Amino acid sequence: MIPELSNRSVCMKDPQRVQEILQSMMKAGSDTVQVISDFDMTLTRFAYNGKRCPTCHNILDNSKLISDDCKGKLKDLLNTYYPIEIDASRSVEEKLPLMVDWWTKAHELLIQQKIRKDLLAMVVQESDVMLREGFQVFFDHLYEHSIPLLIFSAGIGDILEEVIRQAGVFHPNVKIFSNYMDFDESGVLKAFKGELIHVFNKREGALLNTGHFQELRTRPNVLLMGDSLGDLTMADGVQDMENILKIGFLCDKVQERKQSYLDSYDIVLVKDETLEVPNAIVLYLTGRSRPV
Ligand code: TMP
Ligand code: MG
Repeated sequence: MIPELSNRSVCMKDPQRVQEILQSMMKAGSDTVQVISDFDMTLTRFAYNGKRCPTCHNILDNSKLISDDCKGKLKDLLNTYYPIEIDASRSVEEKLPLMVDWWTKAHELLIQQKIRKDLLAMVVQESDVMLREGFQVFFDHLYEHSIPLLIFSAGIGDILEEVIRQAGVFHPNVKIFSNYMDFDESGVLKAFKGELIHVFNKREGALLNTGHFQELRTRPNVLLMGDSLGDLTMADGVQDMENILKIGFLCDKVQERKQSYLDSYDIVLVKDETLEVPNAIVLYLTGRSRPV
């Protein structure tokens, strides 16, 4: 049906069910579809030439806006908490308070650095961030077909927006839920706005935004994309859901985590740095698949 589903990176526990969901969504039509995607390590690359690519937070952490002392502290936090985030042997309940600690401590450190809003564009420009290969087709095709794309990120909204703006794909069909910076009247970071979003409370974030999902109530078919098991709850606010197809990127600790990803994501993309499979699915849903 979709030749890309035979790519080497694709793993599925139940390929038959994937076919059924896809057929049902295609029949319903692309005007019934919405896409909900995580950002860091889902729309952006995990690594390039063997080197890890930065998350929204890392873009700031590695920049010249941060003192060496603070860089060291942020690195220590990353080295402490990231292994916990991806630890297959710990439960989400156990990880939850630790993730709150990580985000809270990191944001406090960033606030101490008196970061200036007018320098964020430069910081993104000078960073090593990379959207996954095929991002242009992904964003442009969704826009051309008026399919809403919600980017739901525990990263930093201001940085995320700048990444997609500089890539030329911040189209009007894109909506973002994320942690946004709050600046004082002279344009210096003083706090983060609203409720904190971390990797394991996206369900709460979704339920706080009922207005968005109410607007999209005529689109009960959801394509969800993530790289963390926490991303699976991003669609919890969708009203009267009919079908959901979940695509999960798995790049780190593959052996330890593969089974749990196969159990929760319909399609698991193992060490795949491209958007080839999501693009093929979106093309199929909008009726531009190759003939069978
Ligand atoms: P995401 O929801 O867009 O994937 O963003 C969350 C990622 O951000 C998560 O994988 C951990 C990462 N992160 C950092 O890299 N540095 C930090 O200081 C914090 C708090 C999170
Ligand atoms: Mg992510």
